Amino acid sequence: MLRIDGLTAAYDGPLALSDVSLRLEKGEILGLLGANNSGKSTLINCISGLVRPLAGRISFEGADITRLKPHQRVAYGIVQVPEGRQVFPKMSVLENLLLGGTSHAARPQRPKRLEQVFALFPRLAERRPQAAGTLSGGEQQMLAIGRALMSGPRLLMLDEPSLGLSPLFVQIIFKALAELNAKGLTILLIEQNLTLTLAYAARGVVLERGHIAIEGTREMLKDDPRTRAAYLGL
Ligand SMILES: Nc1ncnc2c1ncn2[C@@H]1O[C@H](COP(=O)(O)OP(=O)(O)OP(=O)(O)O)[C@@H](O)[C@H]1O
Ligand SMILES: [Mg+2]
Repeated sequence: MLRIDGLTAAYDGPLALSDVSLRLEKGEILGLLGANNSGKSTLINCISGLVRPLAGRISFEGADITRLKPHQRVAYGIVQVPEGRQVFPKMSVLENLLLGGTSHAARPQRPKRLEQVFALFPRLAERRPQAAGTLSGGEQQMLAIGRALMSGPRLLMLDEPSLGLSPLFVQIIFKALAELNAKGLTILLIEQNLTLTLAYAARGVVLERGHIAIEGTREMLKDDPRTRAAYLGL
């Protein structure tokens, strides 16, 4: 579904990504693992178009999307749940959700998708009029995911959805992701928690200082001593 070849990216300093190539199959959950600063967010920001790579090519279902604007990629179905959730704090839960579906294509689908989001996260339905900034961290994460779903994603990318959440909320969020995946949604999941990621992702990629250190199935990554070494920067 997604194919990345030789992706290289930098900000002001050294390379944040160096010659990264990977494939994402339709219908899978791929875990993107790695220590702080290893380039995980940079990689999905390149896929969503928020960061412009220095070199490399990204294609989605056969179309070259390397030079497309972020909103054009959303139209293809590439949707990101950003690091730190970034809901609009003064707006209500409902308003935040509706804002996720404002494109021309998404508008007519809004009532149906709203129902699907509320079925997935009943807590959001209960809190429809509440200002998003007053939700708990876990509820905000549900809202950020719900907002992304309103645009009808085909590839959903999540940047550390478990960050700062209690184990109960992590469970709720990950169960919801598994449910979405079971219905056919392809997911690229950034996480620092190896055990958690491999409980849901059948395949994973470990980034280390901007390059892919290890890539493989859940079983391979679990057994490979380099997986843990990559985290410790050994
Ligand atoms: N907007 C930016 N401006 C300058 N440098 C940046 C920017 N964003 C990221 N970087 C640098 O790029 C490198 C990779 O950062 P990135 O955010 O992709 O890592 P990450 O794996 O997502 O880390 P974390 O787990 O802390 O979120 C780091 O050295 C970081 O300092
Ligand atoms: Mg990050």
